[in-house]
Amino acid sequence: MDDIVVGIDVGTTKVCTLVGRVEAERIRILGVGIEPSEGIRKGVIVDLKAASQVITRSVRKAEQTSGVEITGAVVSLAGAHVSSINSRGVAAVSGDTIDEVDIARALDAARAVAIPHNREIIHIVERGFSVDGQDGIQQPVGMHGYRLEVEAHIITAAQATVENLRQSVGEAGVEVIQFVLNPLASGEVVLRETERQQGVAVCDIGGGTTDLALYVEGHVWHTMVLAVGGNHVTNDIAHGLRLPIPQAEEIKKKHGYALRSGVGAEETFKVQSFGAEGPIEFSRHDMAHIIEARVEEIFALTLQEIKRSGYDGLLPAGMVLTGGTSALPGIRQLAAQVLGMPVRTARPENLVGLVDALQSPAYSTSIGLLHYASALAEEDAPPGHRARNRRPKQDSRLDLSAVKNWLKRLLP
Ligand SMILES: Nc1ncnc2c1ncn2[C@@H]1O[C@H](COP(=O)(O)OP(=O)(O)OP(=O)(O)O)[C@@H](O)[C@H]1O
Ligand SMILES: [Mg+2]
Repeated sequence: MDDIVVGIDVGTTKVCTLVGRVEAERIRILGVGIEPSEGIRKGVIVDLKAASQVITRSVRKAEQTSGVEITGAVVSLAGAHVSSINSRGVAAVSGDTIDEVDIARALDAARAVAIPHNREIIHIVERGFSVDGQDGIQQPVGMHGYRLEVEAHIITAAQATVENLRQSVGEAGVEVIQFVLNPLASGEVVLRETERQQGVAVCDIGGGTTDLALYVEGHVWHTMVLAVGGNHVTNDIAHGLRLPIPQAEEIKKKHGYALRSGVGAEETFKVQSFGAEGPIEFSRHDMAHIIEARVEEIFALTLQEIKRSGYDGLLPAGMVLTGGTSALPGIRQLAAQVLGMPVRTARPENLVGLVDALQSPAYSTSIGLLHYASALAEEDAPPGHRARNRRPKQDSRLDLSAVKNWLKRLLP
């Protein structure tokens, strides 16, 4: 059973448990359990009991479809309580050349920054090295030098919030092996290696959160979670057109468009509203107006965050959009307009196994968790197997062994 991996994506709109089997070049999906969320708002658990029940149902479904008993899983994490800082760590090189132990000591020094006791470290990502003052070293192992410095990106989360999530998953009889920040899981699935090397932003717009990660020179340099997403768009429609939320959600998915200029002024659709005599006619253009205002705001906030990071000049590959809300027609153009950079939308591809329900951008995080789980499983391999190489240069998202080696660098 060593090759079995499990991920639980605890989202604001759905909980998705996936069971996969790691094969030579890919992960085969064996089990799927998707349940509409309850007790989760803006990526954070607000009702322990309701959330535990939903997670349990999702886990049981995935167990039934896969025939695998789930005892441990990699679990997604998001919410406005997540924050990140960059830190430097220094270590004196112990032998003639730099080895893994030296890197581990440098990372230890980087994580020794003052982190309040009520925060938990989720990831420590290496952004780059310098040896004896020489910057820009990608892979220092085997190099000669006396002083090794590492630039690390440290992602932390509110301990109490993390603990609630751990408890909810625990109620389903599942131990959390590792929490993974949403955009890092999504990035694993939707980014191409060439984009990562050039500099790219991944933006996962879900129901309650917009998750952002910036990759420069192949590594994660900045991450951010905004507490706004597709649910806000639905609420705006419900408010603007005076409809109940479920109906607003339905028409958004059916007739929604993110750009008002893309919809003719005469286009209409009909909705049977509660309490009304017959169906009411709505202007699709008006709805696009409502959607555009909110989505534009989301991208304006995202741009603000990218600028704040100081890496806005380092993203020639632009932005890759994913998450359920990226399915809105017209969103790519709107994003490109607001951000002033190239934008493409992406969803999980090249999946094998029980994949029918998963070919949507809403499942990028869920599939990405399996990639992380597989990297962790490999950590248990004998030390000789633990090639600590950088992600290779070729653009091959299917080459899992390469992904795994690189992912190990992200784990605390
Ligand atoms: N075809 C579509 N058009 C517009 N919006 C859509 C479409 N399909 C899904 N959505 C929206 O995507 C959102 C759900 O996305 P997703 O499943 O990625 O969120 P989540 O992972 O549950 O939440 P989060 O990651 O924010 O906690 C909902 O707001 C939904 O309305
Ligand atoms: Mg999500």
